[in-house]
Formats: sequence, C-alpha cells, structure tokens
Amino acid sequence: MARVVLENVTKIFDGDVIAVSDFGLDVANGEFMVIVGPSGCGKTTTLRMIAGLEKPTSGNIYIAETLVNDVPPKDRNIAMVFQNYALYPHMTVYQNMAFALKMRKFPKLQIRKRVGEAASLLGIDHLLNRKPNALSGGQRQRVALGRAIVRNPKAFLFDEPLSNLDAQLRVSTRAELKALHNKLQATSIYVTHDQAEAMTLGDRICVMRNGMVQQVGAPMKVYEKPVNRFVAGFIGTPPMNFFAGRVEFRNDTACFVFDSPPRRTIKLPQPSKAVLANYRDKKMVLGVRPEHLSLHPFIGHADNIITATVNAVEHLGTRTDVHLTSETGPGFVTSIDPHLGLNVGDTVKIHIDLQKIHIFDSGEMGKNVTLCE
Ligand SMILES: Nc1ncnc2c1ncn2[C@@H]1O[C@H](COP(=O)(O)OP(=O)(O)OP(=O)(O)O)[C@@H](O)[C@H]1O
Ligand SMILES: [Mg+2]
Repeated sequence: MARVVLENVTKIFDGDVIAVSDFGLDVANGEFMVIVGPSGCGKTTTLRMIAGLEKPTSGNIYIAETLVNDVPPKDRNIAMVFQNYALYPHMTVYQNMAFALKMRKFPKLQIRKRVGEAASLLGIDHLLNRKPNALSGGQRQRVALGRAIVRNPKAFLFDEPLSNLDAQLRVSTRAELKALHNKLQATSIYVTHDQAEAMTLGDRICVMRNGMVQQVGAPMKVYEKPVNRFVAGFIGTPPMNFFAGRVEFRNDTACFVFDSPPRRTIKLPQPSKAVLANYRDKKMVLGVRPEHLSLHPFIGHADNIITATVNAVEHLGTRTDVHLTSETGPGFVTSIDPHLGLNVGDTVKIHIDLQKIHIFDSGEMGKNVTLCE
C-alpha cells in the first residue's frame, strides 16, 4: 500500500478544455479519500491520470514516494474499478478474477489461493463458475472488486462503482465497501458525484468544481465548516439555505438585514463582530442548514425569527422536511420532528440557530467569512 500525491496537476484536452486545474491532493497510506463534485468537474480525468491512462499536461504524480509521470499504467500497480465493471463476458467469474495474475505469469497454485481468498472475502465463492451475464448488478460489482483485490495493488481507484445499482443495494454495498476497506486498510481514491456516498465512505473528502480543489477535510469538518458557498451548498441534503442581505452595525451590534421586504434584521453572533466589521454595509449571503431552523411558538417575542408559509411537507420517517416561502424572499427548507403536524398553507415562525449560521461573500463561490475568526 502506498501514499498517493498529486502536485499542481493540470490536464488540458485538445488545447482548450481545462479538465483539471492545478490540482493538489495528498492521500495517506491506507486512507480512503473520496473526490466528490458535480458532473464534468474532472473526477474521472484525475483518476485516469493517477492510473496512467491519461498524461498530465503539467504537474507531478507520486505513488509510494516515486514520481510516476513517465511510468506506464501496467507498471504502476494500481487497480481501477469502473462504473460499468468492465468484466470479460466470455470468461467465468474465476477467469475474470484470475486474468491479471495469469498475464503476470503467477504460478497456478498462487492464483487459486488469491482468487479463493478474495472470493470468500466478498462472499462470491459460489459464483466462481458463472459468466457475468448470469450475475446480478451487485454480484458483478463484487467480481469487479475481486479482480482488483487479487492483484494486491498499491492503491485502489474507484470511479462511481455503485452508480449502476438500485438505491437499496447502493446503500448496503456502500457499507460493505467501508467494511472491506477497514479489513484491507488499502489506500483508496473513490470518485462520486453523490455527496451522501462521499460523507459515508471517506476518511477525508475532496470537494472539486471546474477542475479545481475547493476543500479537503474530514466529512464532518467540511459539513460544519465549508470554506465557500459552493461547498456549503453541495455537501448536505437538503442543501444549506441561503438568504441575500447586508451586514450592518446597529448600536455597535453586528446585524444581518435581509434584502427582501420587510427587510427584517437579525442580530449576528457577536464573537464574529471583529471579522464582520470588514464587511460592513456589503452585500453578503447568510447560510443556514435545514436542521438549524426550528419551529417557534407564536407566543412572546424573540430575536432571530422569520415568518414563513408552508409550501410542501415531505415525511421521510426519521425527519420531516418542510419547504417554506419566507417573508424575506426565497424559498427555504427546514428539517423538523416528524411528529409535528404541519399542513400546506400554514403560517409559521422559524427560529434561526445563530450559533450555526455562516456568512458568505456574495456570488456562487463566495468565501465563508465567518471561518476566519
Ligand atoms: N478525452 C477527452 N477529450 C476532450 N475533453 C474531455 C475528454 N475527457 C474528458 N473531457 C472533458 O473534461 C471535463 C472533465 O471530464 P471528466 O470525465 O473528468 O468529468 P467527471 O467529473 O468524471 O464527470 P462525471 O461525473 O459526469 O463522470 C469535461 O468537460 C469533459 O467533457
Ligand atoms: Mg466521471
């Protein structure tokens, strides 16, 4: 197993498509790193460069402390698992799993031992004589994994390996992959556009957009401390709510004034005051996650309350997501206790947990200024 390092890696296709831009990532030995980002952001291109199937336009890639820029794929000792499994249809499961070892002229006995071990690890011993077309999607996926495991590679690369499975199988296979990683402790780089998959699988996640790294960190760190509005909106379902407005100071108190009428004002956490002073009277965006908004009883007065109308109620069992339209403009979502009876058309007061808000520069890539405290 090995550390994998990408240093200022850029890939430009056909002279003008910048697929990956100045990409830096340091994956520790044994780590499970998930690269997550929207379609077309350069995830597959990054993996293919690590595997050696694509040559970087500039930058360096190291595997096990060795510069591999000029090392051909077959000599990198990296195993890649693809979305479409890429199994040989005319070969049995055993032959599929044994193929790479056979090509490398491994002794027969050793091939049998390795395939047997991988098959039992994955629970596919009983399928070894079948051909891929006689397997379910989940079983094919395991064979593809098995084929990677038998090679005992320096690192595993996964390109959306679960995306052809149905929702339920995806979730169970996800858990099995995690368990498998805990057993093998193999350096793994896993690519997905599914943020839930990234959160559940990754020791760390690398959020990518337009070929560039946005943030790298432990899943909960990225969730709780997103560096910019893109990361804040991409990680988490339902996504973070955003409200446009302005930071103003009233009697030396930092406040957020919503743009939309009636231009309601809420007081911001005063420990952030020094930072917020730099953004006085600037157009900013307030971000708050659905679970940090709660229903507030109508009685009495309280700060940090907005009034809203219920548009839709989605019961998910463990929680209920309520879609609202606020007096302060755009729609937003709150996640509440599923036993609170709410109906479409109800008017409610929503309390904002000020300890959990974020203030971003305006624009879809706006920096999270509340992290700079
Ligand atoms: N061989 C190629 N020639 C030209 N452009 C390419 C080539 N391969 C990829 N691209 C472009 O590079 C960008 C990144 O593609 P890539 O496949 O890496 O994205 P991705 O993040 O894997 O997307 P998805 O989630 O849809 O799989 C895209 O704009 C794509 O059109
Ligand atoms: Mg891809």
